[in-house]
Amino acid sequence: MKTTQLSVRIFLVLALVAASAPRPVSAQECGIASAHALATKAGCEILNSGGNAFDAAVAVAAALAVVEPFSSGIGGGGFLLLHRASDDLDVFVDARETAPSGATRAFFVDDNGKAKHKASLEGPTAAGIPGEPAALDWVARRYGKLPLARLLAPAIRLAEAGFPADARYVSASASRAEVLNGNPDAARSFLDAGKPAALGFVVIQPQLARTLRMLAEQGGQSFYRGEFARKLAQTVKSAGGLWELADLENYRVVERPPLKFTYRGAKITAAPLPSSGGLVLAQSLFILESVDMAALSVTDRAHYAVEAMRRAYQDRARFMGDPDFVSVPVAKLASRDYARSRGASIDTARATPSSALDGAATAEEGKDTTHFSIVDAQGNRVAATLSVNGVFGSGFVVGDTGVLLNNHMDDFVLVPGVPNLYKLVGSEANTVAPGKRPLSSMAPTFVEDDRGVLVVGTPGGSRIISMVLEGILEYVDQPQPDLARLVAAPRFHHQYLPDRIEIEPGAFPEPWIEALRAKGHVVEAGRRRWGNMQAVFLDKKTGRIQAASDPRGQTGVLF
Ligand code: DON
Repeated sequence: MKTTQLSVRIFLVLALVAASAPRPVSAQECGIASAHALATKAGCEILNSGGNAFDAAVAVAAALAVVEPFSSGIGGGGFLLLHRASDDLDVFVDARETAPSGATRAFFVDDNGKAKHKASLEGPTAAGIPGEPAALDWVARRYGKLPLARLLAPAIRLAEAGFPADARYVSASASRAEVLNGNPDAARSFLDAGKPAALGFVVIQPQLARTLRMLAEQGGQSFYRGEFARKLAQTVKSAGGLWELADLENYRVVERPPLKFTYRGAKITAAPLPSSGGLVLAQSLFILESVDMAALSVTDRAHYAVEAMRRAYQDRARFMGDPDFVSVPVAKLASRDYARSRGASIDTARATPSSALDGAATAEEGKDTTHFSIVDAQGNRVAATLSVNGVFGSGFVVGDTGVLLNNHMDDFVLVPGVPNLYKLVGSEANTVAPGKRPLSSMAPTFVEDDRGVLVVGTPGGSRIISMVLEGILEYVDQPQPDLARLVAAPRFHHQYLPDRIEIEPGAFPEPWIEALRAKGHVVEAGRRRWGNMQAVFLDKKTGRIQAASDPRGQTGVLF
């Protein structure tokens, strides 16, 4: 594998900011972009010792569970989009959490019919049954070449020896210190004697190391059955949570066909339900495909992109949920004809108020995840977005297991029309039911054209899909793919409700903002920049692989 000056630059930047962390392996050695240099290094180590992209994905995911515990981990879940070069297989490994059997709709609503937000955000009631331990085992066994124990070894080392807190760790631990202090096991794992970690504080997780070692020696099932599972269920239950042993025993990874479509000739392979990612991307891109985007001014292009997002996110809210529980009109939502009919109401000159869309809902006004991308020398690919949902998930560590639980119950609709953590509204289709998977926005994606293949994704809650959409538009529009530019590009976002364009602070010039306001859009700057996009590009002509990490991920931005 060769590299470009670009990827060398990116990895140099990574090396500089990683401070006391070991120097990251360069892109010369592997095509991995992840949110942490130590996780990238773990993946490179596996590729360099005969593993394939799937083996590397398991190693990267496990390492991220240790060094970026506020984003993802074995107490969480996620999705891995895989491409196997030998037989051209594309598959979506769904390791999304499931609601435990005690999680009824009524549990998350108080006597006055109001949503109990705290119950879905903090402590053991917020946690779905984790999917990541099952996924690590599944991907290693079905697609990898090396034993699980080999793949988990770097993560175990990192958990035992510790790693220095970087800027993101510092800001994550400060933002959730109060919740973490509410659970002694969480405080012990992630804080410095009850205080937020300072830069360079060494985070050591011996209990998590022990649990990872159990997975390495006994396989993923050891998490879901027998002694360990009993301990998980009992500890969660006695702390007021909703888990039963049977919920763990019944957990299954599901393989689903990815959603495939084209945009201006580029083949897009995207996330199917229970992620809304693919369907929202498809509708937005189909709407934009019928517009001559190249002929428009920069602000008119943004206007159309926003109007496309508005409509596609509305359908997310109206129709989408776990396809194993509710019937979603997928064929219609993924069709060009339907998208064109939705796009027909776009006014070139004026914003369409969300309340004026057909079937509009009303709503009242209302962190963390990780993505990595891998391409190996054989052309196998992995785009994986994994999450515990909010920063440090529920903030609840299960006894002495070192396992930090997610707060993915909050991705359900507690009360139709009432927004969640990401201000998303939804309908009956995404209400809570035991065994159901909460609707996600995670959007691991492949984009392929004559030039090559882009493997891309990002954390960022509801804004994940608009970021990936803008990434695809950028990729298709640029004569030469420029990964550094793609991951660093300024971002705007519209999600139907709240009815406003959210922009990154300082990212767009005043005339841009004024031009959109003149069309009737409300434009508001968010509190901080968002996203942590990780992209890898395989150039079909030269065989070169470039990797690029979002510069935002190096500056303490949480998502
Ligand atoms: O599945 C989802 O859509 C969310 N739980 C993702 C959360 C996320 O990206 C947090 N971000 N940094």
